[in-house]
Amino acid sequence: MALLRCCLFIILFLLGFAESQPFTHPINHTDLQVAIGDMRAKSYYGFAMLLQMLNGTTAQPIRDFTFLMPDDKQLSSSSIFVDEVGEFLLKHAIPMPLHFNDLSHFPTGTLVPSGNSSRMIRIYNRGKRDFFVNNAKIVSANVCLNSVIKCHGVDAIIDYDN
Ligand SMILES: *[C@@H]1O[C@H](CO)[C@@H](O)[C@H](O)[C@H]1NC(C)=O
Ligand SMILES: *[C@@H]1O[C@H](CO)[C@@H](O)[C@H](O)[C@H]1NC(C)=O
Ligand SMILES: *[C@@H]1O[C@H](CO)[C@@H](O)[C@H](O)[C@H]1NC(C)=O
Repeated sequence: MALLRCCLFIILFLLGFAESQPFTHPINHTDLQVAIGDMRAKSYYGFAMLLQMLNGTTAQPIRDFTFLMPDDKQLSSSSIFVDEVGEFLLKHAIPMPLHFNDLSHFPTGTLVPSGNSSRMIRIYNRGKRDFFVNNAKIVSANVCLNSVIKCHGVDAIIDYDN
């Protein structure tokens, strides 16, 4: 039963993903602003700034996503070139808005797409206090509470094997 529920969830998830692919719907700016407000309220200033840098450009990973946010200390110690901001954000996103409660249904080993469909995020789930997305641990769940966009704080820049 648990397995069935999990599979259903993944199917729903992938449907949502397929739907999100054409990048056609424009972002709801109010919603983005609300999400950025929530990020700033929890001191994720760097990540909020990266999102704002892309607002209004055509390279928009800014949709109804789940963002996985390294904190300012991690961001400031990594070199992100201006023309890589979009790619960086896609690597720190899941193309569907997910509350931590939704994420917590994924068993360890589940692969979820990142904002870049050619890169997958591996879930390591041993409960709320021990939940990893690839190498990064979720340390601050549900930071974005007031918008459709969801976001969670992580303790590292997300790495991909390839
Ligand atoms: C945009 O987002 C805001 C805040 O979440 C919401 O109140 C509003 O209804 C949304 N507008 C559209 C057109 O979806
Ligand atoms: C994004 O840009 C739109 C229009 O260009 C603007 O109305 C909105 O306030 C901007 N949002 C943020 C969060 O900067
Ligand atoms: C997606 O990831 C691949 C590498 O796996 C990279 O070459 C490509 O530029 C990325 N695309 C975007 C839009 O970031």
